[in-house]
Amino acid sequence: MRKLLTTTAIAAVALMALSGCSTRTDSSGGGDASAAAGFAADSLIGVALPSKTSENWVLAGGLFEDGLKEAGFKGDVQYAGASTTVKDQQDQISAMVTKGAKVIIIGAADGGQLGTQVKAAHDAGAIVIAYDRLILNTADLDYYVAYDNFNVGELQGQALLDGLAAKKPAGPYNIELFSGSSDDANSAVFFNGAMSVLQPKIDDGTLVVGSGQTDIKQTATAGWKAENAQSRMDALLTSTYGDKTVDGVLSPNDTLARAVITSVKAAGKDIPVVTGQDSEAESVKSIMAGEQYSTINKDTRVLVAQAIDMVKVLQKGDTPEVNDTKSYDNGKKVVPAFLLPPVIVTKDNAGEAYANDPKLSPLTK
Ligand code: BGC
Repeated sequence: MRKLLTTTAIAAVALMALSGCSTRTDSSGGGDASAAAGFAADSLIGVALPSKTSENWVLAGGLFEDGLKEAGFKGDVQYAGASTTVKDQQDQISAMVTKGAKVIIIGAADGGQLGTQVKAAHDAGAIVIAYDRLILNTADLDYYVAYDNFNVGELQGQALLDGLAAKKPAGPYNIELFSGSSDDANSAVFFNGAMSVLQPKIDDGTLVVGSGQTDIKQTATAGWKAENAQSRMDALLTSTYGDKTVDGVLSPNDTLARAVITSVKAAGKDIPVVTGQDSEAESVKSIMAGEQYSTINKDTRVLVAQAIDMVKVLQKGDTPEVNDTKSYDNGKKVVPAFLLPPVIVTKDNAGEAYANDPKLSPLTK
């Protein structure tokens, strides 16, 4: 039953994101009345992050620690462990509520399994902000702060088409599709964004999904784990590409992109056009070496700063600014969101895209 609800809600999110994709300019406050009173300037702020499935989560923890401290708050930053992620995170959020956190920022390990904890937080007077990943099926979520995830998918789909066209002037092109973990509400949004660009090209025969696996249930990568993407790619190569070339692979992030590339290399095949996301250092190196085709820059420093800015506004008893009050229906309410613009990065614009990033900029030289 829960599974069913989760899937339905994820579909609702994807649909809302799809229909709202060109109308993201409204900038009204959409906040919750609980913000009105404000709270002490040195209050406890909880940050519950998922396990470290990609570099962005590793970076976020340190940035929240430093940023909250600098703003005068007491930060309590926790990661869910690698194995019992959902239970870990539920317990961590409950502990933050008990300790009296005034705001709890959550990067959900499983967006469909936090309703009870979010309600408890809200009932205790805390304001709850979903960070990067939406939390589903709860009316107690106050805000959502993230990059525009549907647009991430659109950019990935377009990058795949551009990379294929640059490689060989005309189709048909053989491609395979990968999506993220089904317990992450972002996965369907990324996939639907990409398919909004790719589906017309599948329909007109420009793109051929060799395996025929186009359903998100078939393309999903449990736990966003590299080994799961690698073994699925191994199986696809064996079942479908014995004497054929795979020209392109839609990968939802960098970790999975590198797993796909590892699989193709091990099979002794040419590296296809592979998309990604997160600007992980290893993938930026791979892009500069001409292997991975693209990534997405969703600067974690900017997203964390945006979340902390919301906390500062709430502390004063004011309503944080949002720029989207239409797209993110979590199954119980449309969550007021602040969405940042993602940027597509290929070898061509990497230098420019990372010019102000001291860690990545040297890799593009
Ligand atoms: C994030 C991505 C990340 C993925 C796996 C998603 O929710 O938006 O940036 O690659 O989780 O950690």
